[in-house]
Amino acid sequence: MHLKELGKTGVFIPEIGLGTWDYKGDTTALRKGLDAGAMFIDTAESYGTELLVGRLLSEMRHAVHKTVFVATKISPQNFRAKDLRNSVDSSLSKLGVETIDLMQLHEPNGAIPIEETMGALAVLVDSGKIRFCGVSNFSVRELQAAQNAFGKHKIVSNQVRYNLIDRTIEKEILPYCQANDITVIAYSPLAKGVGRILDCDPNGTISRMAQATGKTPAQIMINWCNFRDGIVSIPKSNSAERVLENCGASGWRLSPDDFALLNREIKFRHRTNFDSLVRKLIPRSLHGTAVKLRALLPRGLRRRIT
Ligand SMILES: NC(=O)c1ccc[n+]([C@@H]2O[C@H](COP(=O)([O-])OP(=O)(O)OC[C@H]3O[C@@H](n4cnc5c(N)ncnc54)[C@H](OP(=O)(O)O)[C@@H]3O)[C@@H](O)[C@H]2O)c1
Repeated sequence: MHLKELGKTGVFIPEIGLGTWDYKGDTTALRKGLDAGAMFIDTAESYGTELLVGRLLSEMRHAVHKTVFVATKISPQNFRAKDLRNSVDSSLSKLGVETIDLMQLHEPNGAIPIEETMGALAVLVDSGKIRFCGVSNFSVRELQAAQNAFGKHKIVSNQVRYNLIDRTIEKEILPYCQANDITVIAYSPLAKGVGRILDCDPNGTISRMAQATGKTPAQIMINWCNFRDGIVSIPKSNSAERVLENCGASGWRLSPDDFALLNREIKFRHRTNFDSLVRKLIPRSLHGTAVKLRALLPRGLRRRIT
């Protein structure tokens, strides 16, 4: 498993972590991922998987020399200082750890002053409850405001959607993060299921590349995400086989020619602010249903609704 430095912290994390949104089942699949070197787990207070991750960590404590890097998130409704402290205590308790490696603000909340939120986080870093702080779904402007409010501490990561068919971050967020030593943690690197990316590959480039390289389409897709410096990704799977397959997307690199070919051939989009607003307005609880409904549409139509 290839490692990348988290921001400029001197701490190196696996370039493939284990996503846990909508993760179903016991610890088996996640455990396979850890064994395969993906010693980095992403959860959130809103996912309902912190307890499961805690159970996994307690199983791992019996293994020698294994340190799992644990990232979780605070929901935006808990960004007031008091609520934030309670959230962190709750996450620490569910995860069964004394320190959270990476605490992320799940998404911006314009209704609560960022100074209050970042001030509360800074105190928790100083007290040792949080090791590093990151954000998620923050624009460049929001990142700058959060960093200004964070004083001597540094925001080390921004977790954002990034995959072959949604390259929105390439315009502003990715260049800004790369220039400021902020690691991009790419979520939905498979666009919530490889089929959605294959729908946007009219000439079958990914399948041909997979055959030629001896990799699977999912591995090509994840390797593409991690190709550039400063990006790691966190695919999610319920199945042990697929978790292992996804871990096999590290330890090698697409050739620059193949990377360029994918950039040209796969139909992608940059989301507009309007797109982002519409997505924000759809309740998270409906996202899974929307994905299932989309799968019923004909391919040509599906391609337009990424
Ligand atoms: N910060 C945020 O706002 C945010 C938002 C979304 C996600 N995330 C994080 O990012 C993680 C990953 O994103 P995601 O879950 O949205 O999407 P994803 O990882 O792009 O895709 C997950 C889907 O792909 C399937 N899949 C996984 N590996 C596969 C493989 N090798 N071949 C074929 N299908 C495969 C999974 O099905 P099976 O499980 O059945 O294998 C699941 O349906 C989340 O779990 C979460 O930790 C963060």
